[in-house]
Amino acid sequence: MFDFMSWGKRNRLAQIVQPDGKCLMLAIDHGYFMGPTHGMEQPAQAILPLLPHIDSLMLSPGILSTSVSPLLRGIGWVLRASGGNSVLEEDIDNEGLILSAEEAVRLNASAMAVSVYVGADHQHQTLLNLSNAITQASRFDMPVLGVTAVGKKLKDKKEKRYLALASRIAAELGADIVKTYYCEGFEEVVAKTPVPIVVAGGPKLETYRDVLELTYNALQAGAIGVDMGRNIWQSSHPAAILQAVRAIVHDGATVEMGLEIVADLSNEATRRKELFEVTREDMAVSAIH
Ligand code: 5RP
Repeated sequence: MFDFMSWGKRNRLAQIVQPDGKCLMLAIDHGYFMGPTHGMEQPAQAILPLLPHIDSLMLSPGILSTSVSPLLRGIGWVLRASGGNSVLEEDIDNEGLILSAEEAVRLNASAMAVSVYVGADHQHQTLLNLSNAITQASRFDMPVLGVTAVGKKLKDKKEKRYLALASRIAAELGADIVKTYYCEGFEEVVAKTPVPIVVAGGPKLETYRDVLELTYNALQAGAIGVDMGRNIWQSSHPAAILQAVRAIVHDGATVEMGLEIVADLSNEATRRKELFEVTREDMAVSAIH
């Protein structure tokens, strides 16, 4: 898949994409504009039961350095490199680069992640962010994940035509992998994007079946895996649903098999503890993209 690339890039990508060509990335970067998001108020504790089951973590540099042990082995880091805004703004697309490639190398990142907001007020600026990050990263053979982001105004843009446009542009600018959302006709988004695609989970879905169907259908349509967050760590049994998603991504499990895994692994010991009061506003904030 990445055979044409340099040794350094392939080595870093091997920390994200497994030898089976598939990828299970746990996204916990939401705090970079949402703050202490519901379910991720205390990242170090939240990820502890999840780390054994993932290939890589997508996170901000500050959460890596405060909440993940530098002695941890066997997991790749995809570091958020764009940001500079918060949920208090009218929209979240006014981003710049918050991490240089040099700093990403110091943190032993496997890749940098940069969001593009195609069709938003700051489209041009965010596309240049991606392009600048790719130029910087190429000096170090550092891969870049292009994130096709949505915000308050683009919230309903999770459809084939839009996602194919945004994903293709990210690939054209040189992203090595693109993260986008699942949609009806997703195979067309994959077919029109000449680099591997991973899917986000998006805001919390109603049921575990919904999460597993999204994963299964995305893989069937050609995604190489997931970059999933809220549907794992906002669920009642994060380690259980994570292992079911893993079985679909890496072991070819069906949705029904995944549901059996969730049922087997869900118990009081694996239940997520609600540490703080969660208001309606907290839920609304964590669903804006
Ligand atoms: C946050 C992101 C997320 O990493 C991405 O959306 C995946 O998380 P989720 O599955 O919760 O949508 O880009 O800014």
